[in-house]
Amino acid sequence: MIREMKEEDLQQCGVIYAKAFPIEYWGIDWAPDNAKEYLLDFYEQKRFIGYVYEEDDAVIGCIFALCKISGSKKEIYINEMAVLPEKQGQGIGRQLLKTLLDYSKEKGYAGVVLYTSEYAPASKFYEKNGFKLSQGTICMYYA
Ligand SMILES: CC(C)(COP(=O)(O)OP(=O)(O)OC[C@H]1O[C@@H](n2cnc3c(N)ncnc32)[C@H](O)[C@@H]1OP(=O)(O)O)[C@@H](O)C(=O)NCCC(=O)NCCS
Repeated sequence: MIREMKEEDLQQCGVIYAKAFPIEYWGIDWAPDNAKEYLLDFYEQKRFIGYVYEEDDAVIGCIFALCKISGSKKEIYINEMAVLPEKQGQGIGRQLLKTLLDYSKEKGYAGVVLYTSEYAPASKFYEKNGFKLSQGTICMYYA
């Protein structure tokens, strides 16, 4: 079952996030507590939109997004999403994403945007769900 996220879900979302982004693959040492803090920053944003997937009263997947004003239009930015590793590949991610895409359509928003690593398998997941590579956008950094 998918429902809107509540603040008390953040502890479990931190657990899911730390498991879904293991250090061996991502090089970042996420633990449930620092993941919860990280996710809380999204949750506290003014135009936050979040859903969780619940099974037998346990949260096993989550999506964190933000509605952004873009001139006279609005867009949704997906900040994070994760499904417990042992529950991946069962359609939970697709359902969470669909809930957000349906919400965007229902509100008449211009679209849904996200950033992900070129090398991460998640890009295939997004492609399968109708996302396309944005043309003309580059990512820059200063160190
Ligand atoms: C990415 C993620 C949220 C997808 O959730 P999920 O519940 O495993 O995905 P689903 O089972 O709903 O998959 C939907 C479709 O995407 C495909 N897919 C899912 N993960 C995939 C992957 N890693 N590589 C290729 N295809 C993938 C599935 O095969 C499925 O295709 P189908 O419709 O042809 O059957 C989940 O795998 C996850 O938490 N990954 C680790 C964290 C992560 O990468 N988060 C996103 C960062 S931006």
